[in-house]
Amino acid sequence: MEKSDPAKSTALPAMASCCWVRMVYSRGSVDLPCCLQVVRVHSSCVECGDGCAEVIEAGVRKRRSAESETQRRAGTRVASPSPSSQTVSYRAATMKAVVVPSKGQTELKDVPTPEPAAGQVVVKTLAIALNPTDWKHRDFLAPPGSWLGCDFSGTVDKVGDGVDNLKQGDRVAGFVHGGQWEGEGSFAEYVKAEANLVWRVPDSLSDEQAAAAGGVGPWTAIQALYMRLGLATPSSPSKEGEPVLIWGGSTSVGLYALQFLKAGGYTPVSVSSKKSYDLVKKFGAAATFDYNDPEVSAKIAKEFPSLQYGLDCISEGKTTVSIVKAIKGAKGTGRVITLLLNKDSEIKDVAGDNIKVEMTLAYTTLGVEFDWPGMTFPAMPEHKSRMEDWCAKGLPQVFESGAVKPNPIHSMSGGLENITEGLEYVKAGKNRGVKVTYKV
Ligand SMILES: NC(=O)c1ccc[n+]([C@@H]2O[C@H](COP(=O)([O-])OP(=O)(O)OC[C@H]3O[C@@H](n4cnc5c(N)ncnc54)[C@H](OP(=O)(O)O)[C@@H]3O)[C@@H](O)[C@H]2O)c1
Repeated sequence: MEKSDPAKSTALPAMASCCWVRMVYSRGSVDLPCCLQVVRVHSSCVECGDGCAEVIEAGVRKRRSAESETQRRAGTRVASPSPSSQTVSYRAATMKAVVVPSKGQTELKDVPTPEPAAGQVVVKTLAIALNPTDWKHRDFLAPPGSWLGCDFSGTVDKVGDGVDNLKQGDRVAGFVHGGQWEGEGSFAEYVKAEANLVWRVPDSLSDEQAAAAGGVGPWTAIQALYMRLGLATPSSPSKEGEPVLIWGGSTSVGLYALQFLKAGGYTPVSVSSKKSYDLVKKFGAAATFDYNDPEVSAKIAKEFPSLQYGLDCISEGKTTVSIVKAIKGAKGTGRVITLLLNKDSEIKDVAGDNIKVEMTLAYTTLGVEFDWPGMTFPAMPEHKSRMEDWCAKGLPQVFESGAVKPNPIHSMSGGLENITEGLEYVKAGKNRGVKVTYKV
């Protein structure tokens, strides 16, 4: 390789239109579709310090041959329907996806690029967010060969028959049941989802914020508060300001629950560590309690004697029974939603007949029955239909208006190739108060 002239290298790179990138280098220029991520090639090449122009040229050559290979294999050339956009995207027959080859392992593999069935879209993934469920699926639940990852944001690449709510190029976010099946997972270059179960993200959210908002966190809060507890929504708020207890206010689900409650006219009461008080207040908590305080349930009951609803965003150890005790000491009757199956035998004894404890599971809003070892979870069409309404209107509205903000993000580098680092980060509980995200 010839050495480049550093003086000429400073002109690099110039970006042209939204969908084509014009790479200008010392010996000419080349136009490439930005879906080939030339810019990323540029920035990674710069790091090697080999001289901008040369390196980019090398990057271009590499990508160009990948492009020819793509066309040879797939022959799929999808023109944008919009005359204002000159997008021509090349869909490869294969793509990269994070697959679970065996329990506890992940592998970045070439897999078939998904095609949308009727009523579905395929989204070009731009960012992903991680949830505890991802490492749990990897370690315990995922059948070998299943694709990992739930939360995503990106642009609609292809729509299936009968889809009239979205078109190619729309910026969307959503979640799928990753780690359950081969062919469905968001830790991939493309993700297939039900068209009615993705939602248009406002321009104010970055791709990574949109992935963090995508997703398991807000959907679980929505399912628990509205489909399980039947509370008033932000579009038709309560006028009573009733207290609702969120145990684990600083969790990803908790931060959304606090915000939805505030927007819905309730008094959100949060239990977290003291360190998280500022965070939960910023996200809507009207009162904060410390989970390390042995008197926490009694103190909550005393301050909120009408308390009857609780959401347990931790659902491990004594958290559920602590909520039950708070409600018992307050109104005496009520309902508690858990996010995990808490087998603490004390719950039933304390709850008696007056306090109902039930578990919710966000995957059931996707409307597909699934099995976990020893358990079958039936599809819940009524939850799916409510979620479709939220995707069409409620979610875009609350994020657009600013009533609900995405979780603070912790962006990790390295994309899909570095997903293990993020999974281990979340597994080790280092994601305190933040959502781990990656650009794809
Ligand atoms: N059923 C479902 O559909 C569903 C959906 C989503 C999540 N989940 C499950 O729900 C749990 C939470 O998930 P997530 O993503 O929302 O959590 P996350 O963001 O990973 O939660 C991290 C936070 O948990 C808090 N925490 C840890 N122990 C706590 C305790 N004993 N009491 C109160 N807070 C505690 C810590 O807060 P501090 O920093 O204040 O200590 C930490 O910041 C996970 O087990 C997940 O698998 C279930």
